[in-house]
Amino acid sequence: MGISTEKIEKEILKRSLEEFNRTNSPPRGFEDLPEIPAERYINAEFNDLEKEAIWNKCWLYAAHTDQLKSPGDYILWKDAGVPIIIVRSEDDEIRAFYNTCRHRGSSVVRENSGNTTRFVCQYHSWAYDLSGKLDFVPDSRDWKSLDKSCKNLIPVRCELWGNLIFINQNIEAMALKENLGVVDKILGQFQLEKIRYVGKRSWEVNSNWKVCQDAFMEVYHLNTVHPDTVSQLLDHKGAVMVLLLNGHSIMTTPNRSKLSADGLKVDESGGSDASNAYGSGDSQGKSGTPLEIETVTELARNNNLSFNFFPNIVTPLNPSGFPFLQFWPVTLNTCRMDVHWFSPNWGEGELPNKKAWKERMDLFDEILLEDTLNIPWIQKSLESPGFKGVPLNYQERRIYYTHQEIDKVIGDKSIPEKCKVEPVLDKFVENWS
Ligand code: FES
Ligand SMILES: [Fe+2]
Repeated sequence: MGISTEKIEKEILKRSLEEFNRTNSPPRGFEDLPEIPAERYINAEFNDLEKEAIWNKCWLYAAHTDQLKSPGDYILWKDAGVPIIIVRSEDDEIRAFYNTCRHRGSSVVRENSGNTTRFVCQYHSWAYDLSGKLDFVPDSRDWKSLDKSCKNLIPVRCELWGNLIFINQNIEAMALKENLGVVDKILGQFQLEKIRYVGKRSWEVNSNWKVCQDAFMEVYHLNTVHPDTVSQLLDHKGAVMVLLLNGHSIMTTPNRSKLSADGLKVDESGGSDASNAYGSGDSQGKSGTPLEIETVTELARNNNLSFNFFPNIVTPLNPSGFPFLQFWPVTLNTCRMDVHWFSPNWGEGELPNKKAWKERMDLFDEILLEDTLNIPWIQKSLESPGFKGVPLNYQERRIYYTHQEIDKVIGDKSIPEKCKVEPVLDKFVENWS
């Protein structure tokens, strides 16, 4: 049965109060962290190790089921660096296959998305059904003993978390839900099986993907980088970091508009543009995108409740919908940040309140712009002999934890000594299940 979500929320609120009142050193026996080597962000060998262990072997968010509404709908997903078809098959199952014909390796799909009854290779017309089965080979007289059943499209692991489709190329990986562990339980209140897809915006950023993701895993920078936006909304002094199994983590940061003297009680005074970007409501307390997931509890209403789903998603959750920020390497020193937006269920038809959604996404982009203007400067420093390592403080420890998990999935032995981080945070990982 494990720990209840009520207990988890109580524990986080208790820690938040402790943080507000804390005047001296970090609690719970926490020692200063070893520095993260700058080399991790600029080393080509380490980048290759990440490709093998992370992009080829971890669960990665790929699409929303709204993008595959009818049997035959498919998308060609290339974010992990390998072309993969994700399709809704005739039996309504969502499946994934390498986009690689079993004859001489041409592609069976070239459009980024579409609807089809079968996949026909673009070279010699071998044809596969929607479950990947090879069902037609032209000029079969020219084959003596071709066993078609051995030449189906090669499947890729594909599992759903509510309406969210995740892909993993590692056939031996633990099941997605098992990997998520208590994260799945905590997010139960967001009813992921009902959330809908709004759209995606992408940012090209001149930095290693980890520099970019690191920037969304702490609130130490709010007063400096976001003085007129996020800092007006959130009080970083009450932030709580929670480390969970398998590299996942939580960060809660109290909303200022919900604070009162004890730091935690709800005060319904107004919000701001920034709060509307997060979906916390405008100065009348009303969100421009008014639908709500009613089962969401107080923790996510009074705080910015942000998760990191290892390896590459940061999501500030909100009852009125939320984005997944997803970080992908493009080259060693450039990356792409995809921002996938999800809405509470709106029922039949098209997304309502399109204008309000656009405004909300635009406001959020203004905040992201503040971050993305800062990030390339860091990359330049990391490439400079003037930069030796990254000292992280107590409230920045989620960054360290993510790096520690990266090393864990790569396997300590193959990592160049100059890139390694020591796994010093294991004893601070909650054993919640
Ligand atoms: S490569 Fe696909 S049919 Fe020949
Ligand atoms: Fe930021």
